[in-house]
Amino acid sequence: MRLLFIGDVVGSMGRDQLQQYMPKLKQKYQPQLTIVNGENAASGKGITEKIYKQFLEWGADVVTMGNHTFDKKEIFSFIDDAKKMVRPANFPEGTPGKGILYVNVNGIEVAIVNLQGRTFLPPLDDPFRYADHLVEEAKKRTNVIFIDFHAEATSEKLALAWYLDGQISALVGTHTHVQTADQRILDQGTAYITDVGMTGPYDGIIGTERDAVIRRFLTSLPARFEPPKEGRTQLSGVIIDIDEKTGKSKRIDRILINDDHPFFS
Ligand SMILES: [Fe+2]
Ligand SMILES: [Fe+2]
Repeated sequence: MRLLFIGDVVGSMGRDQLQQYMPKLKQKYQPQLTIVNGENAASGKGITEKIYKQFLEWGADVVTMGNHTFDKKEIFSFIDDAKKMVRPANFPEGTPGKGILYVNVNGIEVAIVNLQGRTFLPPLDDPFRYADHLVEEAKKRTNVIFIDFHAEATSEKLALAWYLDGQISALVGTHTHVQTADQRILDQGTAYITDVGMTGPYDGIIGTERDAVIRRFLTSLPARFEPPKEGRTQLSGVIIDIDEKTGKSKRIDRILINDDHPFFS
């Protein structure tokens, strides 16, 4: 089974990039399952119902989220009905939405989990213990388990991946918005990358308009961060090949599309 994952889609430029390239990537790589991180899809912070539905229309099967899940108030009106959306599972009990979902891919069930790290992020429940519970639950139904671990620290992402090595098919990092070049298959068959990177403005600062960020560093005063609305764009993703019988991965490859890494169909 081949899976395409596209990293944090940021603002209108990210959405345009997704609409343009997701069909082309699906055409080129023929994945059976496409997952997109949408935590920054609405002006960099959160997601709206309209955008969530557009992502599905354009070809995403599942939308994962992160620390910005609840930034747009409208999320509360639709997240419980959003069957193809997962938000970090380790939010406190009672938080709207869900952290695990199952999709059926040609008769094979796939578990998709979203978790959030605790290093340099708000203190949620322990993602390691949550992962234990969720993997145990998922294993009753399937060997194919995918985790989007939304976290800042490389060490936390590597630690969770090694902790779960052999029990899950893949753990990919999101949140830093910069793609890392360390994709690999761990010893026991779990595909890993520290961060998939973001989809959106190429010349901003992790997706945000540069001047406000620079001013913030120069003055330490509060600033309003918005994604730029025009300029050069990029798309970041990974392709993962999974043996659906064992749930172990065979291969993980990075996708990076921008002016310095053009797309060839
Ligand atoms: Fe993000
Ligand atoms: Fe994030």
